[in-house]
Amino acid sequence: MEPTVTILGIAGSLRKGSWNRAALRAAQALAPEGVKVEIFDLDGIPLFNQDNETPPPERVAELRARVRAADAILFATPEYNHSIPGVLKNAIDWGSRPYGESSWQGKPVAVMGATPGPQGTVRAQHHLRQLLPGLGMHQLTAPDVMIHGTSQKFDAAGNLTDEHAAKSIQGLLTALAAWTRRLR
Ligand SMILES: Cc1cc2nc3c(=O)[nH]c(=O)nc-3n(C[C@H](O)[C@H](O)[C@H](O)COP(=O)(O)O)c2cc1C
Repeated sequence: MEPTVTILGIAGSLRKGSWNRAALRAAQALAPEGVKVEIFDLDGIPLFNQDNETPPPERVAELRARVRAADAILFATPEYNHSIPGVLKNAIDWGSRPYGESSWQGKPVAVMGATPGPQGTVRAQHHLRQLLPGLGMHQLTAPDVMIHGTSQKFDAAGNLTDEHAAKSIQGLLTALAAWTRRLR
């Protein structure tokens, strides 16, 4: 039997009721056999300051360790002003340092996003995908998971209720696990 693929989910939102955090919780529940989805919350990650790269703040050290320990990364990004939120970019920057010791290097990665808007975070995901080669990450290019009109797709407790969105998240996890196994 193939070893379990551990995927670390990182949402680019600190909001308690975040749809993107909710989408990652859904991914945990939808993980196919042989796949485990863990979540790292970005709460407590300070703003990047190059003076504090070494040793890093405690939460940053945790982030780096969790990224290193994971077999693959799944970013769930909101869209802020047609791009990714600063919270996510900040965490990406911390993880990429110190120079030559990036935690992202060589990791398989997939992208998804959720928004109440009609465009499903397409523009934010496009920007995020532009960063990934520079981080040395191996990105899964399909399938796309763009969850739009979120209030129709999650219940009041943040549970994903939309069958199509659930199937597309499951498809993404299956594809990311296969991609990760191929790159092993
Ligand atoms: C500063 C800001 C800019 C935003 N810009 C966009 C945008 O360009 N496109 C979009 O679909 N939604 C935009 N939104 C709405 C977010 O998609 C919405 O707040 C979403 O719920 C954030 O993700 P979260 O629920 O995971 O926190 C914006 C929200 C904020 C606060």
